[in-house]
Amino acid sequence: MNIAQRKFDTLVIGAGGAGLRAALQLSQADATVAVVSKVFPTRSHTVAAQGGMNAALGNVTDDNWHWHMYDTVKGSDYLGDQDAIEYMCRAAPNTVVELEHFGVPFSRLENGSIYQRPFGGQSQNFGGEQAARTCAAADRTGHAMLHTLYQQNINAKTHFFDEFFAVDLLKNKRGDILGVLAFDIESGEKIIIEAKTTLIATGGAGQLFRTNTNASINTGDGLAMALRAGMPLQDMEFFQFHPTGVAGKGMLITEGVRGEGGYLINAEGERFMERYAPHVKDLASRDVVSRAIAIEIREGRGCGPNKDYVLLKMNHLGAEVIKKRLPGIRDTCITFLGIDPIDQPVPVFPTAHYTMGGIPTNKNAQVVVPIGTGGEEAIPGLYAAGECACASVHGANRLGGNSLLDIVVFGRAAGKHIIDYLKTHRQHQALPDESIEPALQRLAHWETGASEHESSDYDKNVSVAQLKNRLQQVMEEYCGVFRTEDVLADGVKAVQDIKEQLKYAHISDHSSIFNTARIEALELENLVELGLATVTSALARQESRGAHSRVDYQQRDDERWMKHSLYYLQDNRLCYKPVRTKPMTVDTFPPKERVY
Ligand code: FUM
Repeated sequence: MNIAQRKFDTLVIGAGGAGLRAALQLSQADATVAVVSKVFPTRSHTVAAQGGMNAALGNVTDDNWHWHMYDTVKGSDYLGDQDAIEYMCRAAPNTVVELEHFGVPFSRLENGSIYQRPFGGQSQNFGGEQAARTCAAADRTGHAMLHTLYQQNINAKTHFFDEFFAVDLLKNKRGDILGVLAFDIESGEKIIIEAKTTLIATGGAGQLFRTNTNASINTGDGLAMALRAGMPLQDMEFFQFHPTGVAGKGMLITEGVRGEGGYLINAEGERFMERYAPHVKDLASRDVVSRAIAIEIREGRGCGPNKDYVLLKMNHLGAEVIKKRLPGIRDTCITFLGIDPIDQPVPVFPTAHYTMGGIPTNKNAQVVVPIGTGGEEAIPGLYAAGECACASVHGANRLGGNSLLDIVVFGRAAGKHIIDYLKTHRQHQALPDESIEPALQRLAHWETGASEHESSDYDKNVSVAQLKNRLQQVMEEYCGVFRTEDVLADGVKAVQDIKEQLKYAHISDHSSIFNTARIEALELENLVELGLATVTSALARQESRGAHSRVDYQQRDDERWMKHSLYYLQDNRLCYKPVRTKPMTVDTFPPKERVY
């Protein structure tokens, strides 16, 4: 075979916070680590995280990890696995201190300790007064973390394959994952990276939706790779809409604005969240605030000529607070809206933000699959962490500030577990030639500009770009904030149709094709599979829970639906598994009505 081959102890696919935190742990333990990233590492989407990372440091309000755990379980609408949530919340304070020691430049309080701001769904004493738990570096926390982790990895001699696109996982007949087929985006040269252990850390799939806060790279590549390799995807029906994206454009306006005291108003100037969440108002959890905005607009109280957005008011905070705590938000508003939030409110609308579902994992970040006896088992040597994984710490609705926490806690957990695994798995397994064939075929399909395949039913002139627009539109229209049976069923058909059309689509009008155009086609194949997983899982779940809001089944139904969905590529099959309601050391938080 005429393809370059390299061997490492661990392959990390993705160079965001989860991938880099794991790689650092491993490189510092003298494991050989390859990080494959389709963008230069510091362009990974973690860089865009604004408001901060939750940890019960108690620097601003009294706090402890158990209260954080309670809020996270409640925020998840009781679908989160309580052992994993306990693990994450307990680990949070030390994880922040560790990041500080790596060099993350957190903002400071007068007394020199780390600045913490209030975020949605945070409480003291199990549902009491508002907590301030989100550790922030102004409104550029992800940027600060990602750059620090990258620098530490360079220091630790992690090997980076920058701007390499991972096509598919490689596995032997027994199903062990032995590496990946990737290619160099600049030259098109293929490479096989073999590894004893693999961590998928490729982030989420926000590009499924037309209006989103995500980078264009967020095409769920690792999720789709796992699906094609036979793994199920868990809880894909739960997609988070962030309440405050720039109206009509989608860019994120951090929840930190409301944490600092900003609030939402409708066309009548009314602070409407007082009606939906009388206790915490604008700091209710995201699913609640997004639905409230959608209802205000639906009932005719939206702002602007088309009454299609609400306003986020922060001018009362004063120029000093905005410049010190929210400088990035001010830049975004001035650049993209021509509005200075020091003077004027900002038009906002809910925007697709976060993939709560993902590759099923346990608290060691090992990928787990169900077994016949009703339990589950870990796939040896395979790990997933960050937004592509479903541990499940976010359940049906993630709390703001818990995603930066998730990536470092479970990136670190993966690194630690892999170090132990490598002690007893010292040899590489043989990689059979035939294991590479499916990935090569997938790549070969996009070697030419127009598909060679003829079809009487489908338009050969349709382009990949047109189909991506169509998919994003379909997902927004058929699988948005509010959902119903008929619309979801039509959505399944529409995505299936796009999947079929994609087989015959062309990627370029020119005789020479840039590798970036090939990547767009491969990414769209990934997105289409994830769109189908999302809408199929949403159609099946006949209840409203967290971010999944069914107009035809308005109540949460713990009797029938307190369970995780598992979607398989083969036959678009769905099955279910129980929520892990037993924490590690404390009592279970039983489900109760969720009010804010
Ligand atoms: O609003 C924000 O700053 C986003 C934070 C998050 O998604 O955790």
